[in-house]
Amino acid sequence: MTTISSTIANHIKPTDSIVILTGAGISKESGLDTFRCADGIWAKVDLEDVATPQGFARDPNLVHRFYNDRRRGLADPAIQPNAAHAALAELERRWKGELLLVTQNIDDLHERAGSKTLIHMHGELRKVFCVHCRTVETWDGDLSVHDVCPTCARKGGMRPDVVWFGEMPYQMDRIYRALGACDLFVSIGTSGNVYPAAGFVAEARGAGAHTVELNLEPSLGASHFAEAVNGPATEVVPAFVAELLRL
Ligand code: APR
Repeated sequence: MTTISSTIANHIKPTDSIVILTGAGISKESGLDTFRCADGIWAKVDLEDVATPQGFARDPNLVHRFYNDRRRGLADPAIQPNAAHAALAELERRWKGELLLVTQNIDDLHERAGSKTLIHMHGELRKVFCVHCRTVETWDGDLSVHDVCPTCARKGGMRPDVVWFGEMPYQMDRIYRALGACDLFVSIGTSGNVYPAAGFVAEARGAGAHTVELNLEPSLGASHFAEAVNGPATEVVPAFVAELLRL
């Protein structure tokens, strides 16, 4: 059994404010690939081709195929939220202080587990938008260059509502305000490779927050955290949430 932090009670009160950041690692045990593990997505496809505006301009059909495959994968009934997603949803329901969940993930497993106060800073796989009129639509089927915008009826402008490298993540003002006011920052299942998310721990520490990393192994930013618990998310996250709810 993973030993969970015993110092939380020394730092955190039940009415404190918490910001939680999640990455692909929290969805791994639900059956979704991470990006940088040995069998990860970026070991199979070049991110320059499918996760940049330049890649989309160069070959939109390749990009649509990449996200269509991932959208179909997410619709597989075998892909379900796991105990870590469920624990964070329970924490949101029962925590007496402010709590904001920020995810880098574009899957909908947090919502399906019951989380409501959630920011998808890198967008959502089940959303698309029209580059002409900027209208965002929920889209569960395949997308192609032939699709017509349901709002402005123009063709060829529909793209995944996913934040690509070089684009500005969503709701950054709200995220930085929450980081500047939080008492506890928890990072779960992220390698600390990609900014601005990788810099959130420094923002939180600068605001005086206690910082905890819950990850399978130490991330690139592990040394910036006051403490870390390493293990699979379905084990360490429920145990950590139980610790918080015992305060
Ligand atoms: N439990 C907890 N952590 C896990 C598990 C698990 N079962 N399996 C893997 N991990 C950890 C890995 O050790 C790694 O540190 O999850 C992390 C996943 O790292 P990445 O694959 O880099 O994913 P992430 O950090 O979310 O990537 C950030 O990069 O490509 C972009 O937009 C993409 O949002 C993504 C961003």
